[in-house]
Amino acid sequence: MFSVDTYVSRRDVLRSRLSSGIVVMVGNQEAPRNYLANTYRFRQDSTFLYYFGISQPDYVGIMDIDEGEDYIFADDLSMDDIIWTGVLPTVSELAAQVGISRTYSLSNLPKVLSQAISKGRKIHFLPSYRWSTIMMLHDSVGIRTLRVKDYVSEELIRAVVSQREIKTDEEMVEIDNAVDITFKMQTMAMKMCKSGVAEREIAGTIEGIALSHGAGVSFNSIVSINGQTLHNPNYNNVLQDGRLLLVDCGAESVNFYAGDQTRTIPVSGKFDNRQKDIYEIVLNTKLNAEKIVGPGMQYKDVHIAAMKCMAEGLKSVGLMKGNVEDAVAQGATALFMPHGLGHQMGLDVHDMEHIGENYVGYDSKVERSEQFGLASLRMGKTLRPGHVITVEPGIYFIPELVANWKNESKCIEFINYDKLLTYLDFGGIRLENDVLITDDGSRQTGHYHTPITISEVEEAVGQ
Ligand code: GLY
Ligand code: MN
Ligand code: MN
Repeated sequence: MFSVDTYVSRRDVLRSRLSSGIVVMVGNQEAPRNYLANTYRFRQDSTFLYYFGISQPDYVGIMDIDEGEDYIFADDLSMDDIIWTGVLPTVSELAAQVGISRTYSLSNLPKVLSQAISKGRKIHFLPSYRWSTIMMLHDSVGIRTLRVKDYVSEELIRAVVSQREIKTDEEMVEIDNAVDITFKMQTMAMKMCKSGVAEREIAGTIEGIALSHGAGVSFNSIVSINGQTLHNPNYNNVLQDGRLLLVDCGAESVNFYAGDQTRTIPVSGKFDNRQKDIYEIVLNTKLNAEKIVGPGMQYKDVHIAAMKCMAEGLKSVGLMKGNVEDAVAQGATALFMPHGLGHQMGLDVHDMEHIGENYVGYDSKVERSEQFGLASLRMGKTLRPGHVITVEPGIYFIPELVANWKNESKCIEFINYDKLLTYLDFGGIRLENDVLITDDGSRQTGHYHTPITISEVEEAVGQ
């Protein structure tokens, strides 16, 4: 938790950006895995954490914009709870830590909100990603569950995004810390990468690092020799010489801020020539993008510049052909990289994605494209100091996608399908770092350099 002042001033800023009404922020409840008492590890809702700081389940925060008062609704533990969980701080003790003195039992929430509604006051809430939150809103504001999404407050969405997306110095300490733990995860994966080792051994070990230094992982780790599957959730394979291992992982700092890095490692310890060629194209694309990011630049333009760089590289190895500008304009590079160059990162690894990707990643100047590949770009808008973004180009050889495009003779003037068919056993390469936009450019997050050049990675594998 940060100091009291942080939470008070965050709520003051939010209040100053809203016209009137009542803001309801519903914290998360426990989520059962298979029966009620066996739950997933609890993770508080990030927006609740940001404004109300309390990382316990079953809390609701209210901000009265007109009266300038904030309230917490939650219940103290019963004796039955204490027997199982031990003594925890009371609701009023936790509320005091975030500068709130008015606390009420959760059972009062429907009454308070229905009184406000009957006076014609606006109730602001954000989109929900959990049914328990939707049910809580249904119970307390009386909207049918399937209609709750129709009543979210666009004014609140815009105000929260505009505030949360600019990271403060104390938030950067957390993000740097999360990235430092992520560095430890990545370098451990490199150390363990060896023929005969199972993917799950590496996944288990690096997720243990996240838990032992911070709050755990910021998303389920991707540890796979099938890197062509973008978010491969399985750890069923055993590493074999000749294959590449893609590791995309991130830790959360103790205050729940995310890290997110990807490296791709040769199992044998040495890249072969074909792997080297593709790796250099991805690395060059990433370094180029990191060189040009800075305030005032639209991230969509950085993505497009990255695709041109990648297309030049793919042309140089004979996988693409023709005019690079035209190839990128027509979306031909999306066959190799069907995702965006990056996303914002903060309390969520894809920051605020549940609030609405277009509010987070786009604005009135930059519209989301509908073109395959570019449509998946989560962050396209103008970069500002305080934005934390990922830069994560990749080249993937996805046999099903190649077959699909080839059958349709898609982008035939830009893609050398004959050569491409010889790469279907390649897998995929992605390289990812997290970057802070500063007043005069950008800086890498974290205090350590995760090996990334061919020689650095070859030196780190198995060491
Ligand atoms: N780890 C998910 C991503 O890089 O977007
Ligand atoms: Mn990632
Ligand atoms: Mn990412």
